Amino acid sequence: MEHFCCISKKMLFFVVLILIIWSHLINVIEGRAHYHKKKGATTPVYAPVPSSSSPNPIVRSDPYPSPTRDEPCIFDVTSYGAVGDGSTDDTAAFQAAWKAACAVDSGVVFVPSSGKFMIRSTIFSGPCKPGLVLQVNGVIMPPDGPDCWPDSDSKKQWLVFYRLDGFTLNGTGTIEGNGNQWWDLPCKPHRGPHGSTLPGPCDSPAMIRFFLSNNIELSGLRIQNSPQFHIKFDGCNGVLIDKIQINSPQCSPNTDGIHVENTQNVGIYNSMIANGDDCISIGPGCSNVDIQGVVCDHSHGISIGSLGVHNSRSCVSNITVRGALIKNSDNGVRIKTWQGGSGSVSDISFQDIQMENTTNSIIIDQYYCLTKECRNQTSAVYLSGVSYKNIKGTYNNVRSAPIHFACSDSVPCTNITMSEVELLPAQGELVDDPFCWNAYGIQETLTIPPIDCLQEGMPLELEETAVGC
Ligand SMILES: *[C@@H]1O[C@H](CO)[C@@H](O)[C@H](O)[C@H]1NC(C)=O
Ligand SMILES: *[C@@H]1O[C@H](CO)[C@@H](O)[C@H](O)[C@H]1NC(C)=O
Ligand SMILES: *[C@@H]1O[C@H](CO)[C@@H](O)[C@H](O)[C@H]1NC(C)=O
Ligand SMILES: *[C@@H]1O[C@H](CO)[C@@H](O)[C@H](O)[C@H]1NC(C)=O
Ligand SMILES: *[C@@H]1O[C@H](CO)[C@@H](O)[C@H](O)[C@H]1NC(C)=O
Repeated sequence: MEHFCCISKKMLFFVVLILIIWSHLINVIEGRAHYHKKKGATTPVYAPVPSSSSPNPIVRSDPYPSPTRDEPCIFDVTSYGAVGDGSTDDTAAFQAAWKAACAVDSGVVFVPSSGKFMIRSTIFSGPCKPGLVLQVNGVIMPPDGPDCWPDSDSKKQWLVFYRLDGFTLNGTGTIEGNGNQWWDLPCKPHRGPHGSTLPGPCDSPAMIRFFLSNNIELSGLRIQNSPQFHIKFDGCNGVLIDKIQINSPQCSPNTDGIHVENTQNVGIYNSMIANGDDCISIGPGCSNVDIQGVVCDHSHGISIGSLGVHNSRSCVSNITVRGALIKNSDNGVRIKTWQGGSGSVSDISFQDIQMENTTNSIIIDQYYCLTKECRNQTSAVYLSGVSYKNIKGTYNNVRSAPIHFACSDSVPCTNITMSEVELLPAQGELVDDPFCWNAYGIQETLTIPPIDCLQEGMPLELEETAVGC
């Protein structure tokens, strides 16, 4: 097995120097530069990150390296035994490449564009040296469906990135989820005999999961056909997602595009998401989330929530969604909470959003319930400071109004601001039947359709029990 050695230009210079001295001395000086290479090798091999057109690392032998910049160290999975024929189990090779790259500064685990690599459910864990990159130019995919999934493997997750700091997942390739057979399990909605839904357990793996990790970058990749959520962040701080594509059919159940929870300081930019559930969902414990330049197609829109399930306390604040296009979608921008929760949602801004053929374009639902058997409770997550500005376009449901504010009975929503909100029917007549319950706020401009039911000012009886976070 060939290894690429990891050596900076500075170190290379040092090695060459030692070799020269060594060749002139009788006493053997022990090489102090440690690089992973066969004994007897004299030329260290290092390479820049290859482009997609040159899938394999270029071996350079520049004897006069510039001492200013460290070159990344490439760990090509095929050098660790990965086959990439679409059926051989390449898990061990990926793990070995990961382990080697993790141990050096700025290590790059490289997946060449020539291969389709099948790997099983795997935890890529840290801590690792800073600057670690997993660059996928080829295709990575899991075993094809539940029947091929080894019993010993977790059915809840596939690729897990754990305890990393300063990690990048990027490339020009595809992460394929092979979700078809999972979506058709008889326990999935309406997939049982005669359109029934058989009882669970119905575990299906989330495709990419980042857990307890900080300063994560994700860019360039195409991520598709997840058995369940595509990308999930939990307990992370510092996430940058740029120019990714997520693609799954409209009828694929629970295939949320990007889900974040207990995660702070998130930027999601310039990405296209087409899927069968929430385009982006923001769960409990998130703050400082900035979403810009995202297109959501045939999804369930951009959601905050669901929050407060099983009487839990949820805190979400400072979320901005700007410059989005949401089309052919069940919901546009949504906030959903269960009855009985506590905590708060505050400082939320939805701005410059184009809606095309969405159903519930703007919706707050504080009665979120999957079974239709949820009791009303006195406690609720407190919503305040939600602004909708310059939201325009079309809605497709002639039966319900495109703006729907169903706030909790006991805890009203306050400080909702509407400005330049204009929603017209994709076809047919304007649905002039707004719905608000216990919703307070102001309209800075005339809203279309009009929502006269939004109450001005603050509720008199806003109770002390509406605890913030
Ligand atoms: C992946 O990220 C690394 C580290 O930021 C960067 O050097 C490299 O150019 C990126 N590659 C691609 C294809 O985006
Ligand atoms: C809100 O979040 C943004 C990042 O999206 C951050 O730059 C800003 O400082 C945050 N504001 C507050 C008040 O924390
Ligand atoms: C409108 O969106 C729905 C999904 O909500 C989709 O089924 C329908 O095909 C879309 N209509 C058009 C004209 O694209
Ligand atoms: C809960 O309260 C809402 C608003 O008052 C009401 O419309 C709904 O019927 C109630 N649901 C139950 C299950 O009591
Ligand atoms: C109302 O919400 C906006 C954000 O939408 C915020 O800037 C403002 O401070 C809030 N006002 C009150 C009185 O809480």
